[in-house]
Amino acid sequence: MKKWWKEAVVYQIYTKSFYDSNGDGIGDLQGIIQKLDYIQKLGATVIWLNPIYKSPDVDNGYDISDYQSIDERYGTLDDFKELLEKAHARGIRLIMDMVLNHTSDEHHWFKESRKSKENRYRDYYIWRPGKNGKEPNNWGNYFYEGEGSAWEFDETTQEYYLHNYSRKMPDLNWKNPRMKEDMCRMMRWWLDMGVDGFRMDAVNRLVKPEGLPDSPNPPTPPVGIHGYVVDRTMCANCPGIHELLHELNQEVFKKYDIMVVGETGNVDAAIAIDYVKEEREEINMVFHFEIAKNPVLKNAIEIKEIERRWNRVVMEQNGWITQYLSNHDTPRQVSFFGNDDKYRYESATMLGLLMHTHPGTVFIYQGEEIGMTNVDFPSIDYYNEKYTVGKYQTMIESGVDPVTALNSLKHTSRDNDRTPMQWNDSENGGFTTGIPWMHSNPNYTVINVEREENVERSVLHFYRTLTSMRKKHPVMVYGDYKQMLEDDENLIVYRRHYDGETWIVICNFYEKDLDMPEAVREILDHEKGTLLLGNYADVTVENRNNIRPYEARIYCL
Ligand code: GLC
Ligand code: CA
Repeated sequence: MKKWWKEAVVYQIYTKSFYDSNGDGIGDLQGIIQKLDYIQKLGATVIWLNPIYKSPDVDNGYDISDYQSIDERYGTLDDFKELLEKAHARGIRLIMDMVLNHTSDEHHWFKESRKSKENRYRDYYIWRPGKNGKEPNNWGNYFYEGEGSAWEFDETTQEYYLHNYSRKMPDLNWKNPRMKEDMCRMMRWWLDMGVDGFRMDAVNRLVKPEGLPDSPNPPTPPVGIHGYVVDRTMCANCPGIHELLHELNQEVFKKYDIMVVGETGNVDAAIAIDYVKEEREEINMVFHFEIAKNPVLKNAIEIKEIERRWNRVVMEQNGWITQYLSNHDTPRQVSFFGNDDKYRYESATMLGLLMHTHPGTVFIYQGEEIGMTNVDFPSIDYYNEKYTVGKYQTMIESGVDPVTALNSLKHTSRDNDRTPMQWNDSENGGFTTGIPWMHSNPNYTVINVEREENVERSVLHFYRTLTSMRKKHPVMVYGDYKQMLEDDENLIVYRRHYDGETWIVICNFYEKDLDMPEAVREILDHEKGTLLLGNYADVTVENRNNIRPYEARIYCL
């Protein structure tokens, strides 16, 4: 069935790093308003805002202390309403990040909860007595803040509370009907204001395993320091999660014309289908972690396998999927998958074309559209995000030397994606007139929006072409998808077909010179393929069969 959210191109904005309108070094809502023309010109139809709620900011806003107010760093509720209205006036919808797994420990509920075992809010969170003077189980927190456990002892009531992330982010207890009701009311409040949906943070982790058992895995290295197990599977997809999401759907989502996309680690296509199958009425689509940031992806064969599996969710199972290669938790895609130096344009555009021509809703992370790259910070002091800093500390404690520790974390650090947006070549890339909350990537002098606007062959122009094609060619959204050359290690080739339009897409995933495979040549000859879009300008009939590093082409048959 046709839906606006299937056709959408979503632009993800990490407000804090997008554009600072008042010179305090922090991106803000007025800054986004000033850049709405840019977003519209990019062809985005939906904006997803990372959390902008009131927050102590230990995890850049994912630790919320009040779900119904805007953090003053970003502006006011009036600024938010102005943004919403001005985005809508341009035909751009807006979705909010919704964090339901945990709150900040500074949320009013938690402050009450820790006061006494009888407190009205006690059971909004997960409290347990210790076991033999130790934590209730062996879980380590995902943030690994040097201290390890997923449990924090609280003096006042002599019990532990669960926090899968930072100790300042206690996990909520979704078995509590009053908390559930409060959350539903809060979500409806945003939707009644006109918000167009949610990106649901860690949404497959809301329900915890019965009895909170130990993880069977060995302690997470470096072994011997703490003995805790960082096991993300423990709280993923537990019995009861589907009932809960269905309930949220009935109480909230279903009452509005919105999109709901879930962030779901530890989910493959077979598991995902139960979250997104339309008739189950849970959520619309999920972000999986099989490609973006996957450090063990071997080659294009594996990527093709993954895409085939996910495509079944759409084709056979009446569900929907997402396409993305980066977000605020990943390194920059051009650095991770491509060559961000010699072939920055070619690899950035190939990756963009690959995503936009696969089935699924497309998500562009700010800066991706100008080919922003990873950053090479000289010391840990430049880093902000918890995984990198926490892991670094743990490595240092266990005797690893600082240079080795930093080098091992650099390439995958979440901060690669969080450096300020690069608007022009003035100081700090024009992000702020003040001191930016986080160091800019010094390459803003050559990689920035202004330059991308002014040169003809730019990643930005290519992205604009892709998004405008999506509006003209429904085959990009609704076309069926069939791969060719499944065993080719380098090339990703597939056909899309919809309503009389057939495309063949060829992407060279590597920095290699290759020959056009015979099977593709024949199709292009027999079916008179005409080139619709490519990232090398000089393709002719004569040189058509040479495929160059990171070359990507769309042919229409
Ligand atoms: C999600 C967010 C991430 C955050 C975590 C805890 O994974 O994308 O940025 O740290 O949830 O809320
Ligand atoms: Ca600001």
